[in-house]
Amino acid sequence: MSLIPQEFIQELLARTDIVDVVGRSVQLKKAGTNYKGLCPFHAEKSPSFTVSPSKQFYHCFGCGAHGTAVGFLMDHLALSFPDAVRELASQAGMTVPETPQDPRQAQQTREQRSLKLNLREVLEQANQFYRDQLRATPRAVAYLKGRGLSGKIAGQFGLGYAPDDWQGLARVFPNYDADTLIQAGLVVARDAQGETLEPGALEGRAVARRYDRLRDRITFPIRNAQGELIGFGGRILDRGEPKYLNSPETPLFHKGEELYGLFEGRAAIQRQGYVLVVEGYLDVIALAQHGVGNAVATLGTACTTEHVRKLFRHCGQIVFSFDGDAAGQKAAARALETALPALGDERSVKFLFLPPEHDPDTFVRTFGADAFEREVGRAQPLSVFLLDTLADGLALATAEGRAQAIARARPLIALLPDSTLKSQIVGEFAKRLQTPLTELRQALALPAGRHASVPAGPAQPAQGRASGAASRAARMSGLRTDHARTAMRILLTHPGLWASLSASQHELLMQDGSSTRQLANWLEARLDAFPDISASALWEGLRVDGLLEAAQALGSGDLLDMEADDLQQDLLGAIFSIELAWVKQRQQELTHTGLIDEQAKLEYLSLSSRLVELSQKLPRL
Ligand code: UTP
Ligand code: MN
Repeated sequence: MSLIPQEFIQELLARTDIVDVVGRSVQLKKAGTNYKGLCPFHAEKSPSFTVSPSKQFYHCFGCGAHGTAVGFLMDHLALSFPDAVRELASQAGMTVPETPQDPRQAQQTREQRSLKLNLREVLEQANQFYRDQLRATPRAVAYLKGRGLSGKIAGQFGLGYAPDDWQGLARVFPNYDADTLIQAGLVVARDAQGETLEPGALEGRAVARRYDRLRDRITFPIRNAQGELIGFGGRILDRGEPKYLNSPETPLFHKGEELYGLFEGRAAIQRQGYVLVVEGYLDVIALAQHGVGNAVATLGTACTTEHVRKLFRHCGQIVFSFDGDAAGQKAAARALETALPALGDERSVKFLFLPPEHDPDTFVRTFGADAFEREVGRAQPLSVFLLDTLADGLALATAEGRAQAIARARPLIALLPDSTLKSQIVGEFAKRLQTPLTELRQALALPAGRHASVPAGPAQPAQGRASGAASRAARMSGLRTDHARTAMRILLTHPGLWASLSASQHELLMQDGSSTRQLANWLEARLDAFPDISASALWEGLRVDGLLEAAQALGSGDLLDMEADDLQQDLLGAIFSIELAWVKQRQQELTHTGLIDEQAKLEYLSLSSRLVELSQKLPRL
């Protein structure tokens, strides 16, 4: 959706000094050519957070957070990309250009924006009304007191009360029939047949009946990460069904993306370096009242990958809390699958299982915050939970049990992005199965091992005749992937080095079927348009084009600190190694044909001499 031209972002980053931008929130001290300070993204006592004025990047050696000035504003202040750009532009005295748009589309954008503004306005008015009603309703106050909540915490979270009245909101909105009330999710609309009309589909439908969605309920205002009111949750005071009612999907409210308490807990989350994900509104509030301010809750849905990604923008660790019953175990298994695609070396997940009969609310009220923190300290790392899940109920001493565990593992491991974490997990799994790692990697259809070195000398003899050729091909392609990742890691942080490679070396990176191919093609196109682009502008381009995560998954953070000259040799080494793997693979294919054909023999010979050349170059690097 971003329409901000790349040229503008480049110019903006050229005129911005990241040291100033970060320096406004973090106390920085000069250390050599860089600046250092306490990382705002995780709790630390000695500074491992570095800002490089020459690279215009920040990087934390403790938690791995890294990015540009734009990224810093997004992650530290939870701004959206356009807002972060606008903020920097205003600091630099620049105006974000309005890109020419098709006028109809521009009109639509304007209408959407003004609709959202209206809806927020309406929600704020309702919120004020609910809060006033709470003060005027002793029964509702008594309910909250009975649940151990203080007036202070109720005020902090803006709790309110929706009166037991079909059209209570008519007291605040004289024009109760306005469609905005329906679109905001406050009022339920039904047609003459009694059919509910969705807030987004009112066009041309006749509304026969309107009434307040929340009646005789405690209200929980739900804010997005920027603090804007987007909806409400409502809990019934006594027994009744449903216990909780939430806003429906509206232009402002998407429950699969939003998290209750994220805005209120942002500072605590950054301070603690982790976020706690609990199930309910009242868990978040009770924990906060006891001093555990870094909890959020999903809104009556299972946690989505979208949620997980959003949380990882605020800190590097997520602790999921589950009730200690069977339902909790099931929810944990679901959370595991959801979290896997968003994991990486700098992002970890833990699983906290509370004693049966307890949720965080009752636990913290019964045993106190210290006991709760101790439970958090004992939470299971994802790797442990994953491996336990894979082995659960299976006899790993038997071949059948091991085969079943591997079958269970295959789809889950496939969800994990390539990372050191992934190889560590697979390594642990191999130990538990008492199966050689290479065999397990093969069974999981993984490349031969990330840190394997290039085998020197002639190709090793095949082990099993039948699958030998295929597995060799797989091994070669795995090696290529590893080296391509190294090369792209270097190139994306030091784009100037691209020009030092030959066209055929560019091809090697752009053609291989590995995950880095897309990044290489993107880089080529980008450098074609902007030959002198800085690394920081390049990274903002990756963000706009949806490739930032793929680039970050390469683990580039550590390289931001290095000089291009020092990386040139590593880059060449990686690229020669990719070619070497290709040459070997092709030779094996040719050998397989028996080398009867004259053409094949010639090709084989020329490959051999290239192989010698490459092997001579490599050791010297
Ligand atoms: P729970 O039913 O587990 O209850 O709902 P709880 O949080 O312990 O609630 P209390 O302590 O009895 O008040 C957990 C969460 O699931 C969603 C809500 O978001 C709730 O906070 N939920 C639950 C609904 O959306 N609708 C329901 O009917 C029940
Ligand atoms: Mn509860």
